[in-house]
Amino acid sequence: MISLKSKREIEIMRQAAHRLKIVFQELKQLIKIGMTTLEIDRQAARLIEAQTAAPAFKGYRGYPACICTSVNEEVVHGIPSKRKIKAGDLLSVDIGLIYQGYVSDAARTWAIGQVSEEAWELVETARKALYIGMSQMKAGNHLGNLSHAIQNYVETQGFSVIRDFVGHGIGRAMHEDPQVPNFGKPGRGPKLEAGIVLAIEPMVAAGSWEVDILEDAWTVVTRDRQPAAHYEDTIALTEKGPENLTGSQTCEEKDSQEEIG
Ligand code: MF3
Ligand code: CO
Repeated sequence: MISLKSKREIEIMRQAAHRLKIVFQELKQLIKIGMTTLEIDRQAARLIEAQTAAPAFKGYRGYPACICTSVNEEVVHGIPSKRKIKAGDLLSVDIGLIYQGYVSDAARTWAIGQVSEEAWELVETARKALYIGMSQMKAGNHLGNLSHAIQNYVETQGFSVIRDFVGHGIGRAMHEDPQVPNFGKPGRGPKLEAGIVLAIEPMVAAGSWEVDILEDAWTVVTRDRQPAAHYEDTIALTEKGPENLTGSQTCEEKDSQEEIG
């Protein structure tokens, strides 16, 4: 069942999202080449706490860390470890926090130092795909239109969309109905209406969309071990149209695409 949020609830989710945006901005400033992903996790834990919020992932189905850090061929759910990030890596950081009973969820893929031209294109494709999906978030539109628009764009760029993991409704719980696939057919799925809040999260692979899960039971990697990028925002459909709670309102207004480290 899809839970529609009231204006009052969306206002709380806006505040939760605002805190998550600050966490991303501050975390990005702290990341340096040679840092381990576990050190990044520790910093994120501290920044979330400073926002008087709680990490949403810690303990979720036994997840052992505060955030997910997925490097290169790791698509999502990478567990922070002693792995050091190096120049040329693509680092996807996924963070969820809980503030006043509501969850906010977002992810960014950052280029560490200089990366290849193709890696940049992959990251830009994941980022743009999210805005293409958001532009389909209109009252009366079927969810399948949003999914299809993302898939069509990504495949036109010569990349593929991950099938085994999807976006989701979000609110008091991190994962609510409906599921939000990054592939699908127009005219299918539930109709969108004001009050729906979705975490749209394109996961884009340079090669094939097939994935494996590593021995740690969490880390999702591409089967062909080619790189992947992940971009996610928590987006509310208000009376005025879609509002990106955790990111920029337009694709042109970049919030986090420069090289870091
Ligand atoms: N953004 C991810 C999701 O929507 C993060 C979940 S990681 C987990 O599924 F550890 F919490 F599962
Ligand atoms: Co999510």
